[in-house]
Amino acid sequence: MIQIREACEYDAKRFAKMQLQIDSETDYMLYGAGEREITSKDARKRIEYFADLPYSLILVAEDTETEVLMGFLIADGNPPNRMQHSVYIAVGVLKEYWGRGVATRLFTHMETWAKARGVVHRLELGVLCENTKALRLYQNLGYEIEGTHRDSFMIGADYYDTYWMSKLI
Ligand SMILES: CC(C)(COP(=O)(O)OP(=O)(O)OC[C@H]1O[C@@H](n2cnc3c(N)ncnc32)[C@H](O)[C@@H]1OP(=O)(O)O)[C@@H](O)C(=O)NCCC(=O)NCCS
Repeated sequence: MIQIREACEYDAKRFAKMQLQIDSETDYMLYGAGEREITSKDARKRIEYFADLPYSLILVAEDTETEVLMGFLIADGNPPNRMQHSVYIAVGVLKEYWGRGVATRLFTHMETWAKARGVVHRLELGVLCENTKALRLYQNLGYEIEGTHRDSFMIGADYYDTYWMSKLI
């Protein structure tokens, strides 16, 4: 069974492993394969930091039978009053689990959290224009393209455009 829940300290080691594996399985995340190290300590610090912030959230998707963490969603809010309505989203799922509704469930859970907070009005994210799978997912979830960031990614020697997308709730 897949469970979507907030990340806790106990997840640190598996969370680090999952993030590094996702980096290595796709060109569509911020970091490339092997580019960064994340220790369990780093992951624990980040999880604890986010757990203390009322305006931000780290969700994980866990297979409760195998205890594998298969995906995550980070919702990163803002402390200033003038930006507290806006939350930036990042998401990733292990390749083995793509197409099973994991990301959709992470987004649904995050939106419930965002609505419960009361102040959140704007959910935003960036996506490489050629990442059609993610783009379709976001459009299906109600996110709209606001504009293009030209050459905002550099993979190897090539530049790539990204779409900036948002959903108003
Ligand atoms: C993009 C990404 C997050 C999508 O995650 P996912 O868990 O595969 O997404 P979902 O399964 O919720 O939705 C994807 C597809 O599965 C379908 N789906 C949803 N629930 C399903 C289910 N229960 N069973 C089968 N298929 C399902 C969706 O309809 C969707 O189909 P479509 O692509 O034909 O429109 C994932 O592919 C990924 O991590 N990619 C690499 C990193 C990345 O691109 N991150 C985003 C950076 S902006």
